[in-house]
Amino acid sequence: MNDPAVGEILVSPEQLQQRIAELGEEVSRDYADRDLFMVGVLKGAVVFIADLMRELTVPCEVDFMAVSSYGSHTDSSGVVRILKDLDASIEGRDVLIVEDIIDSGLTLHYLMRNLRARNPRSLEVCALLTKPERRRVDLPIRYVGFEIPNRFVIGYGLDYAQRYRNLGFVAALQPEQE
Ligand code: IMP
Ligand code: MG
Repeated sequence: MNDPAVGEILVSPEQLQQRIAELGEEVSRDYADRDLFMVGVLKGAVVFIADLMRELTVPCEVDFMAVSSYGSHTDSSGVVRILKDLDASIEGRDVLIVEDIIDSGLTLHYLMRNLRARNPRSLEVCALLTKPERRRVDLPIRYVGFEIPNRFVIGYGLDYAQRYRNLGFVAALQPEQE
């Protein structure tokens, strides 16, 4: 893509495909004979969950939540508002939250507390990307696609000002664009 905002490619389409196939195998193994209910977090996780669910060999239900965290566009505050809730009850079900990226961890921390209060049988997280350096709360993340350095990234679902979600790879945003 010939756009000055698209910087260094951190995860290529081939790396994404291979790692997501591995994650799909792992999740399928762990959730055999369980009641998998995947919760995709809009909008960033849409591309990831679409690919991940097609790698699963176990039955699953898919639902979505939309949350907005207050703060500037590159920093979340931990104050989270639910914009779209799940359609179904998760009580007694094996819930897997599917996230695009865990940055400070504050959004996920809130989401996990909220979902745990609904009494699922189990609650785990699958994140495509994580930036360990930025973590502000310690969270148990069962499945991680890639650990990346502390840079703002775009593509494969991730946006900058709602753009670049359609890139087939994960790239750094060029610093002068931030
Ligand atoms: P956290 O609450 O700080 O963990 O932020 C989580 C949310 O912020 C993610 O689900 C993304 O929507 C967004 N986010 C964090 N880092 C990035 C990034 O590098 N690029 C795009 N979005 C990001
Ligand atoms: Mg997100």
